[in-house]
Amino acid sequence: MADPASPDPSPPNQQATPAAPVVDLEPEHELIVLARTTPEASSANDTLVIGTAIGAAVFGIAFAVSLVIGLPIGWYGMFLALAFFSLGLSIRRYFFDRFPEIEAAELREVPDDQPERPVSNVPALARRPLLTRVLLGSAGVFGASLLALVPSLGPRVGEQLRSTPWASGVRLKTTEGEDIRAEDLAIGTVVTAWPADNIGFERAAVLVMRLSDEPAEPTNMEWVIENSLVAYSKICTHAGCPVALFRERENSLFCPCHQSTFDVRRACQPTFGPATRPLPQLPLGTDDAGFLIALGDFVEPPGPSTG
Ligand code: FES
Repeated sequence: MADPASPDPSPPNQQATPAAPVVDLEPEHELIVLARTTPEASSANDTLVIGTAIGAAVFGIAFAVSLVIGLPIGWYGMFLALAFFSLGLSIRRYFFDRFPEIEAAELREVPDDQPERPVSNVPALARRPLLTRVLLGSAGVFGASLLALVPSLGPRVGEQLRSTPWASGVRLKTTEGEDIRAEDLAIGTVVTAWPADNIGFERAAVLVMRLSDEPAEPTNMEWVIENSLVAYSKICTHAGCPVALFRERENSLFCPCHQSTFDVRRACQPTFGPATRPLPQLPLGTDDAGFLIALGDFVEPPGPSTG
C-alpha cells in the first residue's frame, strides 16, 4: 500500500492538464459552409432536359410498338435501354442547377470568443413549370409504354397444369399411334401410352404395366384391369423428368434424374428419393373391342407440384 505521508509519485516537471472547455454544440452547428457554387440555369440545360424527356417518351413508344409487332428482342431491348437512359439523363439535368456544390467543414469546437454560425444559404427549389410538365409527361408516356409487356406475360396458367387431354372413352395409343389391346400386354410389359389425338403431349404420358403381383391398397382397384394391368403418369412428381425404368421384380418405377422410386403395387407411392407425391393413377378401362381407354382424367395433377 502507498504511504499517505510519502510525496506525490508524479515527476515534478509534469503539470496537470487543464480540462478542455465544454462547448455546447447545437445540432445545426455541425457544418460550416466554406464554398458554395450554384450552377447557373441555362437555356442549353433546359433544352437538354426537354430533349431527353421527349426522347424517353419516343423510345418508350418505340419499345411498345416493337414489342407488339414482334420485332426481335434486340430491337425492343435497345429501345427500352435508350428510354431508360434518356429519362435518367433528363431527370439528372432537371436537377442540375437546383442543388449547389457545397464545400463544408465539420465544426468540432467553437471557441467562446468566436462563435461561428453555420452558413445555410441553399435556396428553396424553384419549379419551372415547363420543364416539370415535360419531364412528368414523358415519364408518364414511358410508364404507359411498359404496359406493352403485360400481354407477353402469357395466359393464366390456372387449370392448364391440372387437366390433360385424358377423358372418358379416350383410347390409349402407343408412340407409333397404335391402339393398345389389353390381352396383348404380357406380365412384366411396360408401354408408354398417349391420349388418341394427343400423342406427344408430355403431361399426359402414362406408363401401362402388367404387374406380376396383384396391386394393393391404396391403389384404386376400379381402375385396374384383370387385377394386374395399371396405368400411371410417366411424369415424375419431383421435377418432371420422365420416369423411365420399370423394375418388374421389385414392383417399382425409377426416375433417373434424382433416383426417386415409386411402388407400382401401392398406387405408385414414393419409397425413395426426393419425390413426395405418388404418380397419379390413370382411370383405366377397356372398350367393347378390348382396347384400352381412359375412364376420365387424372384425379391428381401430373408432374411436379405447382403450389
Ligand atoms: S425428377 Fe424424378 S427424382 Fe427428380
